[in-house]
Amino acid sequence: MKDSSIEKVKELIKEEFFGESTGHDWYHIERVYKNALKINETEGGNDKIIAYAALLHDIADHKFVEDHESETDKRIRKILGDQDVADHIIDEVLHIAHNISYKGANVENKINTLEGFIVQDADRLDAIGAIGIARAFAYGGSKKRMIYDPEKKPTLHDSFEAYKSDDGHTINHFYEKLLLLKEKMNTETGKKIAEDRHSFMEEFLERFYSEWEAK
Ligand code: ADP
Ligand code: NI
Repeated sequence: MKDSSIEKVKELIKEEFFGESTGHDWYHIERVYKNALKINETEGGNDKIIAYAALLHDIADHKFVEDHESETDKRIRKILGDQDVADHIIDEVLHIAHNISYKGANVENKINTLEGFIVQDADRLDAIGAIGIARAFAYGGSKKRMIYDPEKKPTLHDSFEAYKSDDGHTINHFYEKLLLLKEKMNTETGKKIAEDRHSFMEEFLERFYSEWEAK
């Protein structure tokens, strides 16, 4: 998609996120952007809303920014306002940025627009499969988490607070989020892409346990 204001936002985000080291770097954002537009080829949502939301979805992530809600609001209004983007489009993008994040196995998804479903699927595809595995350990390391501790079992969280404050190891994250994403995909296109990535994670875990047991 070639649009000068989208290109401007892309440049700005690339500069800000390029070398980020927890798996939320520019290339994560670029993959979400590309995958979201690709999914939309078969879903029929609004490309512009999807492009802006994909580029801006991690602008003030709750995992890194304390005042996530108001920072997300402020940054997105400023960036899109500077490009003279219409208010109704900014509101759609804000709905996505505020609600895109996974909040726990048993916590309801608040996304309720087609564009939101698509960008959320693209973001989730990047959390599974080979790239998802790499990102999970990068993120876990950045938060000083252990790779694995067989003594500590996973929890299916009922609230965002419980999910956020869990300090478990990264292998648990597979059971608390990554392996659940396949069933939580919103679009048919997203579901299809997720299947193969899901199987790869299962195979990874099997090998992981087998090597752990020195088999
Ligand atoms: P979300 O907004 O749903 O959290 P992001 O695009 O911000 O999605 O990416 C989340 C990334 O961070 C994923 O790759 C995920 O594996 C990783 N991550 C989040 N929480 C944990 C955790 N507790 N342990 C390991 N990785 C995590
Ligand atoms: Ni993301």
